[in-house]
Amino acid sequence: MISYDGISKSRIRTHYDIATLFYRLLWGVHIHHGLWNENESSQQAQRQLIEHLLQESGIPRGASVIDVGCGMGGSSIHLARQHDCHVTGITLSGMQRRWAGATARLRGVGAQTRFFRQDAETADFAGESFDYLWSIECTEHFFDKKAFLQRAANWLRPGGGVALCIWLAGDEPHSDEDILQVKAVCDAFLCPSLGTTEDYATWLRDAGLEVGNICDLTPRITRTWEICRQRVERTGATKLARLFGRDAVKFIDNFDLILNAYQSGAMKYASIVATKPTL
Ligand SMILES: C[S@@+](CC[C@H](N)C(=O)[O-])C[C@H]1O[C@@H](n2cnc3c(N)ncnc32)[C@H](O)[C@@H]1O
Repeated sequence: MISYDGISKSRIRTHYDIATLFYRLLWGVHIHHGLWNENESSQQAQRQLIEHLLQESGIPRGASVIDVGCGMGGSSIHLARQHDCHVTGITLSGMQRRWAGATARLRGVGAQTRFFRQDAETADFAGESFDYLWSIECTEHFFDKKAFLQRAANWLRPGGGVALCIWLAGDEPHSDEDILQVKAVCDAFLCPSLGTTEDYATWLRDAGLEVGNICDLTPRITRTWEICRQRVERTGATKLARLFGRDAVKFIDNFDLILNAYQSGAMKYASIVATKPTL
């Protein structure tokens, strides 16, 4: 794991409270990478990432799911509409909670979804409350990822599992240059640390889960940043970002940083699934 001091929870919350509208305008309803096979549109690529994780995790129709770091409710609503799931979404941002709830009602799945403003690192759900934990690009923001997975494993029923898409530090050993690149990404994108694939596998196993497929998706997701960069150049979005605060400007000024980190191997992007053994 590569850690970076200088990120606070309140900065992460404020960032999503303020910048969510900006992400919606720049990228769409999902605040996550797209997954490309060929030359699909960015919206299609974002849906493909969700479909990939659904397939990897084997979440059955009608399952009860907690979507950790639910953003504008993109995944939660997809799981409810396309897969009949009952979804509880949690997000640090009150603004996102309201957005997700309103969108779910508009899309006809208000009764199948509920959204809370909650810090996942302190949230408390009863044991065996859900079948599956779903989390796309949220655990990067956690200060103690191991402790979170340990607690969250208790929320799951035996036979259920965990489905994650994650920004990762590249495999160890890390060169000084890798560490510099990852710390710069952590600074620009508000991550207290990035774990490696091996870190996540160990944390999941330590939480009593059986680790399934780990899919390195790096080459199929990097186009996200090329498209975002083109959109920013074409639309002059830097000026717009100024309205959404310093961290939004930093975010769009650093697309090359993350692209370079993926290309150099300092960072990876993967889906990881795990199951909770039946007794
Ligand atoms: C990159 S966005 C991903 C959103 C969503 N999963 C998606 O794919 O559209 C990160 C999300 O994690 C949430 N988040 C960050 N730290 C969190 C925490 N400690 N507890 C709950 N949510 C958190 C943010 O509020 C935001 O919704």
